[in-house]
Amino acid sequence: MAEEHEHEHEPLPEGVPPVSRRGILFNLGLGMNVIAASLIGIPIIGYVLSAVFKEKAQQAWIPLGRIDQFPEGQTRLATYTNPFRRPWDGFVADIPCWVRHIENDNFQIFAINCAHLGCPVRWFPQSGLFMCPCHGGVYYEDGSRASGPPPRGLYEYEYRIRNGHLEVRGGETPNLSESV
Ligand code: FES
Repeated sequence: MAEEHEHEHEPLPEGVPPVSRRGILFNLGLGMNVIAASLIGIPIIGYVLSAVFKEKAQQAWIPLGRIDQFPEGQTRLATYTNPFRRPWDGFVADIPCWVRHIENDNFQIFAINCAHLGCPVRWFPQSGLFMCPCHGGVYYEDGSRASGPPPRGLYEYEYRIRNGHLEVRGGETPNLSESV
């Protein structure tokens, strides 16, 4: 015992800084925080990366129809078939969307699903509003949120025009994890 006691008070070699109990606890805490951050961070990074790769793998350009099927100044319902359909999808693979032809080559294509809980919204040309029958969500003609529980405007698809045909970039339905 006496020998151990002596070792505790032995002077440290020159150049070696003294290590206090507080310093050891601090370093231990720091290490545990780094481990905890890694454990939380790795799955989040994985989720984000998988979403990016998944989105790329599940999207395609799909023809919606000739441009003249969508008169300027009007919003019309259109449907496209999900190119990634599985045999058991049935009619669920037929995805409706709202096409707004603003003017010339300017369009907006909205997902039909309300940004609140996904009910199909309807277009009312008389009032120039999209309305959701489930909880009263309302959107302006440009898809932005007007009132009700939806936390944001309608989801918008990318589109392009090829040889007089309107094409939508569709496939996987957009959702709340996306900023579009
Ligand atoms: S689902 Fe549209 S307002 Fe709730």
